[in-house]
Amino acid sequence: MHTVDIIRKKRDGGELSSEEIRHLVQAYARDEIPDYQMSAWAMAVFFRGMSDRETADLTLEMVRSGEEVDLSAIRGVKVDKHSTGGVGDTTTLVLGPLVAAAGVPVAKLSGRGLGHTGGTIDKLESFAGFSTSLSQERFAEQVNEIGIAVMGQTADLTPADKQLYGLRDVTGTVESIPLIASSIMSKKIAGGADSIVLDVKTGSGAFMKDEEEAARLARAMVGIGTQVGRRTVAVISDMNQPLGQAVGNALEVKEALHTLRGEGPADLTELCLTLGSHMVVLSEAAETVEEARRRLEEKIADGSALDKFREFVEAQGGDVRAVKEPDRYLPRADRVVEVVASRSGTVSALDAEEIGLCAMQLGAGRETKDDVIDHAVGIVLRKKIGDPVEQGETLALLHGNDEETLEAAEQRFLNAVTLSDHPVSPPRQIRGIVTDEGEKAE
Ligand code: URA
Ligand code: CA
Repeated sequence: MHTVDIIRKKRDGGELSSEEIRHLVQAYARDEIPDYQMSAWAMAVFFRGMSDRETADLTLEMVRSGEEVDLSAIRGVKVDKHSTGGVGDTTTLVLGPLVAAAGVPVAKLSGRGLGHTGGTIDKLESFAGFSTSLSQERFAEQVNEIGIAVMGQTADLTPADKQLYGLRDVTGTVESIPLIASSIMSKKIAGGADSIVLDVKTGSGAFMKDEEEAARLARAMVGIGTQVGRRTVAVISDMNQPLGQAVGNALEVKEALHTLRGEGPADLTELCLTLGSHMVVLSEAAETVEEARRRLEEKIADGSALDKFREFVEAQGGDVRAVKEPDRYLPRADRVVEVVASRSGTVSALDAEEIGLCAMQLGAGRETKDDVIDHAVGIVLRKKIGDPVEQGETLALLHGNDEETLEAAEQRFLNAVTLSDHPVSPPRQIRGIVTDEGEKAE
């Protein structure tokens, strides 16, 4: 097979065969196709697109380029949740124990964060002693015993995607729906999930800023899941402002504990109940999303979701006293600075990206992979979009350990807030749901 013929075919708008896609991906992964040919092909895909069949083929070939996680030792239908990435996205910490309490086996492979805040593992390490270095056997055992485990990702998943994503990054070919969809789905499929719930964020703080683009990405990913026999549901959700109130590792753990007690922020609670209901249905623990949602609300109200979190923290060696008394046993910053409004008005914008960078400046995130993060620091929002504010009222609390960075962060935070003289309605959290049966606008 000649690579140049495959590039020409796609350039001219043709549909590639499964064999042609296999050749491209596997030969590229073996370094037998040079970057310049793969770049030309990616640019042709950018302009010409790919059919659903081609996109599914590309996804499966990227899965086959590396190891696949085998979760078959774990009983039940394993459902994984994936978010396309937001600021202060505390959902995983809430959803894990919540759906586990409702009977969904949660076998989560996770990574550390790079960028504005930590990843799930970093957040969990706010509990003194918490360890995610489990053996494959212990991991499966713990899920079978208590319904939930989180483990650091060690397997070499989808090396072809890693290579191709790196290439796309420097050749102007990231922004292609079939390439993004296959990249994300290949990692989820290699991770061993039977079913997948996707949280596709849209808005100023999201990778997909435009809502229609986010819907297209959601449809493409659900299409891949359906083609390869993994039931997939996508929830399109708002990311015009950080989710919930807390941004930062221990602060988000505390927020998750509040939410599991039924006292969390409305937007975070709504998103968790929506994503969670679909997880419960895909796991076959309930027949309808309405029934699933009622079940989850019960698990919050009767305390069993919070109990599950405690059990999970204990099983992985974390200090469980922090579940009951987070203020006493989670890391705390030395200084808390109030950011106040210099005028009255209604909050009309809270630039999520800037607020994420502000939390990173305080030490909550990593700029490079070797940076050490400070679990205690971050931001707690007191006002969100649509809230009225009086001059002198507190907009947010900045938790920091260093005077100089706190001053810089305060300025940065103020620049991220826009106040309007007119009433503003808060954004709707859930924008749409895409399933294999079609689409529902919310
Ligand atoms: N995230 C991914 O994992 N892949 C992409 O192509 C884009 C975003
Ligand atoms: Ca949050």
